[in-house]
Amino acid sequence: MARILITSALPYINGVKHLGNLAGSMLPADVYARFQRLRGHEVLSICATDEHGTPAELAAAAADQDVRSYCDEQHQIQKDLGDRYGLAWDHFGRTSSDANKTLTQHFAEVLEANGLIEEVTESQVFSIDDDRFLPDRYVEGVCPNCGYEKARGDQCDNCGKLLDPVDLIEPYSAISGSRNLEVRDTLHLRLRQTVVETRLRAWVDASKEWPPLAKSIANKWLDEGLRDRTITRDLKWGVPVTKDGQPRDGFEDKVFYVWFDAPIGYIAATVEWAEKTGQDWERWWRTDKGADDVSYVQFMGKDNVAFHTVSFPATLLGSEEPWKTVDKLKAFNWLNWYGGKFSTSSKRGVFMDQALELLPADYWRWYLTAYAPEGADAQFTWDHFQSAINTDLANVLGNFVNRILKFAKSRFDGVVPDGGAPGEHETWLAGEVEQRLDRIAAHYDAMEFRKAAAETRALWAAGNEYLTRAEPWSHFKTDKDKAAVGVRTGINLAVLSAIIAQPVIPAASAKILDAVGVPADKRAWPSGPCAALLDRLPRGQAFAVPELLFAKIEDDQVAEWTERFSGGAEGG
Ligand code: MF3
Ligand code: ZN
Repeated sequence: MARILITSALPYINGVKHLGNLAGSMLPADVYARFQRLRGHEVLSICATDEHGTPAELAAAAADQDVRSYCDEQHQIQKDLGDRYGLAWDHFGRTSSDANKTLTQHFAEVLEANGLIEEVTESQVFSIDDDRFLPDRYVEGVCPNCGYEKARGDQCDNCGKLLDPVDLIEPYSAISGSRNLEVRDTLHLRLRQTVVETRLRAWVDASKEWPPLAKSIANKWLDEGLRDRTITRDLKWGVPVTKDGQPRDGFEDKVFYVWFDAPIGYIAATVEWAEKTGQDWERWWRTDKGADDVSYVQFMGKDNVAFHTVSFPATLLGSEEPWKTVDKLKAFNWLNWYGGKFSTSSKRGVFMDQALELLPADYWRWYLTAYAPEGADAQFTWDHFQSAINTDLANVLGNFVNRILKFAKSRFDGVVPDGGAPGEHETWLAGEVEQRLDRIAAHYDAMEFRKAAAETRALWAAGNEYLTRAEPWSHFKTDKDKAAVGVRTGINLAVLSAIIAQPVIPAASAKILDAVGVPADKRAWPSGPCAALLDRLPRGQAFAVPELLFAKIEDDQVAEWTERFSGGAEGG
């Protein structure tokens, strides 16, 4: 049994997340966590809301709320939505917690003691009309790298480049729209990433288990050469800057940069979890306290990779304390919305709360996993969604389970039949199942979600094919034993189909397993000889037929949803 720590990029507090956010971090992290739990591993799955910085302040201002109550409310909304999507976190914390404040201040102080933080005078954009500095997203303008017109001060959404607000062309205030801006000098703390560059490079080179997307992004950043970065901001909302545990002189109106404290939030959320459950957090995070046995896996969208392969590791390695660093980093491309982007600011696309108004979570979980933006960006369209759901879930899985259980119910009194012995069809099926089970597990271990889902669907399809070959209905009158073998094998295969579907569609799987009467302790990932797996249910055990598993999506629904979600401007 291994110990696996799983984190997904912490969603910004600034409103309900769209399906692209879900598909690129929280959902695959959950699918992976569920798979590893089914395999019997000890899993700790951690997420939290990312509550500081300009995204939080801007959203609170737009909602006309003070930041703290805005965050309290939005945290609860995101937590509830996570629950409704079956995101089975061990803890969903908050970066505004005391634990995160303590840890963030701790890291800054150790980094400074190690000579990695210096006090510098920095040029910042100041808005005369707003009478304040405009850090990060408080300024927008033209990207100096690609010319995109709505680049934000911290990062260009179009080309992904990290920006400094003073570099924006034709900048304006995101608060007032004012262009009456000037550059003023002010005191800040700078993290000297260049000093740890060699150590970072060696650490990235030694990371053999990163899938290619993450590794190539990390190398690109290192090859371009690191820059020392300012880790404080002229904002009120955030972690206060301290020295020797006291407010730091000259930093009374400043806080740490959100990207400095947010990843520390992974550790802090684990501390919160430990406080809540009476567990030990250090055994997950401190290599001197047992965490060297932990396999740490991170999930995130590609725009987050630099922060997780450069900035956060610079904090951890630079502290020279025995912190656990990531072992496997899985990055995702974008899920696009009809060729453009999903966009929170322009309300473009489908958001997590809206999606559940249309269909239960499993439909979305399946679609976003089986067609995840993994090797390349993926496109969401209603037509594609409809055909995927109707084919994979309704026709392949739903139809198979229904067909076999209904027939068994009517002809074999609703119990798993006895009698008969396996023949050529069962041998064929056992071979099929054996191959697929191995492949599904291998794909999950490699975090290849599309492939894992494709093999899962192939196993369901083998169910339909088996029934077509074994034809228990046509043997029923002439050879009852032969029909019994087909039905018994079919029911066992339905159970197996549901067991392996649990990581992706936990609710529908539970429906099937409950109906057939498979107890909770018999739902682990299947192992052992396949012939035995296909004859596992006690003969004579009563079962029920589950109510409709998946409804087909009709054309008029697609028309209605297309109309409903046609709004939202391009970009942003
Ligand atoms: N909130 C960031 C985003 O949505 C992700 C933060 S990941 C963390 O892009 F590790 F820094 F928290
Ligand atoms: Zn750009």
